[in-house]
Amino acid sequence: MEGKLLKEAAAIIAEAKNLVAFSGAGVSAESGIPTFRDPGGIWDRFSPDDFGTGGLSMLTGLSQRGSEFLKEMLTSFGKAEPNPGHIALAELERMGILRSVITQNVDNLSIEAGNTRVIEVHGNFYRFRCLVCGGKFKLAKEDFLSLLERIADAPEGEDLSGLIPRCRCGGVTRIDVVGFGEPVEDFAQAEAEARSCDVMLALGTSGVVTPAAFIPRFAKRAGARVIEINPTGCYFPEIVDLYIGEKTGVALPMIVEVVRRIRGTA
Ligand code: OAD
Repeated sequence: MEGKLLKEAAAIIAEAKNLVAFSGAGVSAESGIPTFRDPGGIWDRFSPDDFGTGGLSMLTGLSQRGSEFLKEMLTSFGKAEPNPGHIALAELERMGILRSVITQNVDNLSIEAGNTRVIEVHGNFYRFRCLVCGGKFKLAKEDFLSLLERIADAPEGEDLSGLIPRCRCGGVTRIDVVGFGEPVEDFAQAEAEARSCDVMLALGTSGVVTPAAFIPRFAKRAGARVIEINPTGCYFPEIVDLYIGEKTGVALPMIVEVVRRIRGTA
């Protein structure tokens, strides 16, 4: 990575009054979770028509392929821990610079890293949503993963819906992950964050799934500067002020180091 770009990014971030990050699957790639659209990514191997429709709706009579999908999720999510990119974002919040993270990721890793204002527009894999009262509750990660394991190992065709926990109100629940064609979550809050920030980081996202992909555009339209970090290309060329072609797990910790020096908090 060019030192000049890194210093420029750090200078912009160090003087930001309201920094907001918008993240995608690339931020979790270095935690071992495959992205969706890179070669070999999730949508390269599993059809989004079958598996992108939300809430693991295929749980009744799980097919062989459904079981493979769940096992993939178990393997990657089960082992995943926050990587240096997530940790750098949490550090920026602790330094009083980063106001919030708007994420398309459902992996909980920004929260685990220590960010406290995380807007999860595509939901959270470990949370259930009641289809009757709308209430939400999270399972402990281990409990959720062992539930998935039981489901993935069940014989083909077995009705698995009874395994999904019920809500306190007795209602049927589903995993609180947004599928294609379903409304995104907390979008008004995400939009308000974007429209009121002065610097936005667009991190590890191909920016093709709307409405989430509008987030950095809202920020730009409201006058914010946009810094994009993505090793495979610039996906927001029309709005980006500074593009860094590097992995977020590499670039963000380096940028944070420079920000610390600029602010004299080393
Ligand atoms: P994509 O898979 O579309 O894009 C991930 C981006 O991250 C790509 O541009 C990669 O080049 C980049 N990338 C890969 N490794 C990286 C690294 N180490 N550091 C930084 N960037 C890296 O994923 P998203 O843009 O997040 O929706 O996809 C958006 C939505 O599409 C997802 O939230 C999901 C999916 O369908 C739902 O599940 C509703």
